[in-house]
Amino acid sequence: MSLISVEHLTKSFGGIVAVNELDLTIEPGGIVSIIGPNGAGKTTLFNLLSGIYQPTAGRIFFADEDVTDLSCHELAGIGLSRTFQNVQSFMNMSALENVMVGCHLHSNQRFIDTLLQLPSIKKSNRECRDTAIELMTYVGLKDYISAPADRLPYGALKRLEIARALATRPRVLLLDEPAAGLNPRETQEIDDLIRDIAKQGTTVMLVEHDMKLVMGISDRIIVIDHGQWLAEGTAEEIRHNPDVIAAYLGEQGRNR
Ligand SMILES: Nc1ncnc2c1ncn2[C@@H]1O[C@H](COP(=O)(O)OP(=O)(O)OP(=O)(O)O)[C@@H](O)[C@H]1O
Ligand SMILES: [Mg+2]
Repeated sequence: MSLISVEHLTKSFGGIVAVNELDLTIEPGGIVSIIGPNGAGKTTLFNLLSGIYQPTAGRIFFADEDVTDLSCHELAGIGLSRTFQNVQSFMNMSALENVMVGCHLHSNQRFIDTLLQLPSIKKSNRECRDTAIELMTYVGLKDYISAPADRLPYGALKRLEIARALATRPRVLLLDEPAAGLNPRETQEIDDLIRDIAKQGTTVMLVEHDMKLVMGISDRIIVIDHGQWLAEGTAEEIRHNPDVIAAYLGEQGRNR
């Protein structure tokens, strides 16, 4: 059984076809990277997989169930969670509360119970807080547990997003450029963290431009270009694939 598969997935924005008739299968376990030049459609693919966008055409399956029409909350509820290319923390909350948002998504409390502050809710809030503290410690943010989110340096905010996504207890974690803007030491720490998350049994889908990170960490790499599947293989296979080299050389030409 595949964990995620997409069939003929397409997303258009007016005349731009960001994802174009894409077919992919992701097996459970390990780290799968999705790479491709700027504008290839990687973030759009993540937005489709996580229910932020509805596809123009095509279907998405999660553990063989058709989940194309589910919302991002419903998808998080069944085990699919993500971080964003641009940090999306709630700056008016504490770092810890940001992670607790993820736990609450998972715990599925009824609004009325929360309103009445039933004993069961108090207990569940306490558990949620404990889990959030544990997760912040796990991602290396122990020193920021009581800090307001807007005091966190950029590298810490990237980790905070990962902690919040982990709080929903995902089976699949989608990471959109977790190392962007990080220095080499912080990148190495994120590399170690991602490996550990995968080791604990969460399947990781990674979008990242840092090729050293991608080539070192990925069990499989899928390359997309112009919204279409271009290649798939191990780091070694992808590194020597002439179509992939041509796509990236084309990108350098565009950037010049
Ligand atoms: N909301 C949107 N409205 C209009 N066009 C969009 C929208 N989102 C993405 N696009 C376009 O779709 C294409 C794919 O964009 P996407 O952000 O998915 O690329 P990407 O592979 O994530 O690129 P990068 O590596 O630069 O992050 C681009 O041409 C982009 O301009
Ligand atoms: Mg992107």
